[in-house]
Amino acid sequence: MSELERFGVSIPDDLLNKFDKIISNKGYSNRSEAIRDLIRDNIVEQSIAEDGEVAGTITLVYDHHQRDLADKLMDIQHDFYKNIISTTHIHMDHHNCLEVLVVKGKSKKVNEIGNKLMSTKGVKHGKLVMTSTGKELK
Ligand code: NI
Repeated sequence: MSELERFGVSIPDDLLNKFDKIISNKGYSNRSEAIRDLIRDNIVEQSIAEDGEVAGTITLVYDHHQRDLADKLMDIQHDFYKNIISTTHIHMDHHNCLEVLVVKGKSKKVNEIGNKLMSTKGVKHGKLVMTSTGKELK
């Protein structure tokens, strides 16, 4: 466990009021945990920007009847098998599929995988979310 440090912050009251309203709506019971989360988010964003090691999810929605699409998506996934830890495929209805891939690796690589899959013709919607592997956060 790391030691806790206290520090004082000077901040305009209207800015602090807005912050308090936002964190209260999000369910935080005090400012400290909200500020810790902001700092952690900043560390994660920095790590992503510096091509650090990240974990992520890539979510895809597509129509599997679209010609060759499922094959194309599978080919891309095999090209990056070292970075794709797990995939889940859900048949949403007769046409639509939802696929969620859990990925890990350098942020540039994870971004490349996400972009290749999401930009494949016929993918209706795609989203890449990158987060920390947890190692760098306390
Ligand atoms: Ni399906």
